[in-house]
Amino acid sequence: MGDAQSTQASGDPLDSLAQNLLNWYDRERRKLPWREEVNPYRTWVSEVMLQQTRVDTVIPYFERFMDRFPTVQHLAEADLDEVLSMWSGLGYYSRARNMHRAANVIKAGDRFPDDVSGLRSLPGVGEYISAAIASIAFGRDVATVDGNIARVMARVHVDPSPRKRMWGHAQTHLPVGRAGDYNQALMDLGARICIPKNPRCPICPVKTDCRAATDGTADQFPPPKPKRQVPEVHMACVAVRDHEDLWLGRRPNEGLWGGLWELPTVKIDHNSNISDAETWFGAALTEVGKIRHVLTHRVIQLRVYTSKNSNDVGPFHYDEFGRFSKTEMGQVGTSRLTEKALAMVLQSVTETRS
Ligand code: ADE
Repeated sequence: MGDAQSTQASGDPLDSLAQNLLNWYDRERRKLPWREEVNPYRTWVSEVMLQQTRVDTVIPYFERFMDRFPTVQHLAEADLDEVLSMWSGLGYYSRARNMHRAANVIKAGDRFPDDVSGLRSLPGVGEYISAAIASIAFGRDVATVDGNIARVMARVHVDPSPRKRMWGHAQTHLPVGRAGDYNQALMDLGARICIPKNPRCPICPVKTDCRAATDGTADQFPPPKPKRQVPEVHMACVAVRDHEDLWLGRRPNEGLWGGLWELPTVKIDHNSNISDAETWFGAALTEVGKIRHVLTHRVIQLRVYTSKNSNDVGPFHYDEFGRFSKTEMGQVGTSRLTEKALAMVLQSVTETRS
């Protein structure tokens, strides 16, 4: 792509922030797998994975995903179950379902959309991801704003406004011809220097361009968000064993953990007890433990039971219900909570035997 001497899309043609930032990025950029070989598909997959998840967590998932689905055609032709299994543990599973649908849209249209509006028409691709792909993979001169970039811009401009106001600030500094590097440099700066707590202003490459750094007020931007009250949801699940196998049900495709497999699970009241659970599951049960699992919008309190009888098992409320060996469980999509519950059940089985 171009060089740091280039002019701006808007604003000052000699934007010193962009120059200093790109010089720093050219020296210090993080070595990340999606930067080694850039194409629209790899950029798309990486940005979708990174949207709600930390870089360190994403790297091994990205590499496994690329090995298994090296092109958009491979992804389109794969079974949704397999895509979800490659996503297991990454969370926000609607991202994987949307990607699978979008891959089929791209395959049917026979081309990868190459501008912001075309990209936005794909399922699961919003304002942030469309601008990220357009700039990184297609060299379009557009800024994007994620949490890191919003924080940098709030500080540079000492602007306490909501995130949507940061798009204009980010576009102001954009160096024509190097938007992809500029966007990724801001992400790196936000992840490594302009961090939420104790920002490292003394070593920041853009400290002279940043009003908050100059004023010593970086820790006041962005202003803290009011704390949300996260509801607690109580659930119970049961492990019904058949020799070494367990029965799992598949959740409906929509909603929380859509399309994933789980131990038969019901929502319960916070004060329900084992005899209530025995009534719901229609079996004599043993309690093996409780799991507290924190999601963004709720905290799940899950009681885990094993059933004393292994025959006559439901399909309960599931449309798809089946018996799985340990190996087979690894080949379908399961949430991290299901993985914790399975580990608890397997541990209790081992303890009972020894
Ligand atoms: N976070 C989101 N997108 C990113 C990218 N392309 N590089 C590093 N961190 C990111």
